[in-house]
Amino acid sequence: MLLDSLNRPLHDLRISVTDRCNFRCNYCMPKEVFGRGYSFLGRDELLSFEEIEKIARAFVGQGVQKIRLTGGEPLIRSDLETLVQMLSAIPDLKDLSLTTNASLLTRERARSLRSAGVQRLNISLDALDDPTFTQLNSVNFPVEKVLTGIDHAVAAGFKNIKINMVVQKGINDHGILPMAAHFLGSGVVLRFIEYMDVGNANAWQLDEVTTAQEILDTLQSQYVVSPVDPNYTGEVAKRWHLKSVQHEALEVGIISSVSEPFCHDCSRARLSAIGEVYNCLFASKGHDLRKVLREQTNEAVLTKAIQAIWSARQDRYSQERSGQQPSSQKVEMSYIGG
Ligand code: GTP
Ligand code: 5AD
Ligand code: SF4
Ligand code: SF4
Repeated sequence: MLLDSLNRPLHDLRISVTDRCNFRCNYCMPKEVFGRGYSFLGRDELLSFEEIEKIARAFVGQGVQKIRLTGGEPLIRSDLETLVQMLSAIPDLKDLSLTTNASLLTRERARSLRSAGVQRLNISLDALDDPTFTQLNSVNFPVEKVLTGIDHAVAAGFKNIKINMVVQKGINDHGILPMAAHFLGSGVVLRFIEYMDVGNANAWQLDEVTTAQEILDTLQSQYVVSPVDPNYTGEVAKRWHLKSVQHEALEVGIISSVSEPFCHDCSRARLSAIGEVYNCLFASKGHDLRKVLREQTNEAVLTKAIQAIWSARQDRYSQERSGQQPSSQKVEMSYIGG
């Protein structure tokens, strides 16, 4: 088994297929920074699907069992299903999933993604009321369309859909209970995410974080809340079971990257759309695999490069955060897909 310098196995690979998104969420791609003048990656710089597949196969050969496609917004790539088909044919890959804002999740798209081989969908939704949601996405995108996208995902047969809500104090924390009430009994899993200091664009401040404990306290004010065992070691969300007085149930996950970091179990590598491997969400630099791939198509060389990158890994940013001077060079979330 391939272990890093802190004895953590390599288990998950998150693949960003684009650094672009049609939303401008204030915590991820604030419009003041990601405006007209922003220079996104050029089409010709992106890895080809064949290159992504080669890299993915090499990672699976080193122990990766789960692959998640991310962006920016991955559904911006209209031919994404082709990549999904290629990845889902990799033997030994146990789980292929996708994180999306669902704005482009039409009925046809949900069906085609599923038949191409996407097994699970995580969908971002930060509020249920339009004033808050449009303020957050900054592009006037209505909540209703995201809810329709979720319905399409359910209708296409996706199971274990997870809804991700990034909670920001004073901005959308009033939506914790409405969100729980909305998804109660629906069969989806609702996850609350502590607002993180990823990248530099969002000008994150600690007092904007609603902590996992505060989220839990809010839920406990309305529901009977009991803990649920993790699905697997290294799962980022702590799981909870909610029951209402009418006995309707909801599974909730809380991701406490700020108040209770989970780096000791972190088994995720991240691949940017141009082929750099990032060992941490908060890293400032990636390791260039595209160069390796283009200079030497031999799979053994690619595998060696992956082994060297992972075995030298010592990142544990969230656990060191409090004792650190914040770096001004952190990669942006939209570039490596969270
Ligand atoms: P599952 O496989 O369904 O458990 O997915 P996931 O939670 O790993 O993926 P998703 O894209 O839904 O991420 C949810 C949130 O968790 C996002 O805000 C991610 O940035 C955050 N997250 C995921 N992995 C890590 C990690 O390794 N470190 C930190 N700090 N946050 C992470
Ligand atoms: N803090 C926490 N979560 C974030 N995401 C994007 N930026 C941040 C941040 N600063 C979330 C998105 C999406 C997931 C991939 O990451 O909402 O659900
Ligand atoms: Fe786009 Fe997701 Fe970032 Fe929002 S959080 S800007 S939807 S990539
Ligand atoms: Fe992993 Fe870095 Fe997140 Fe820690 S901060 S859990 S090392 S990605």
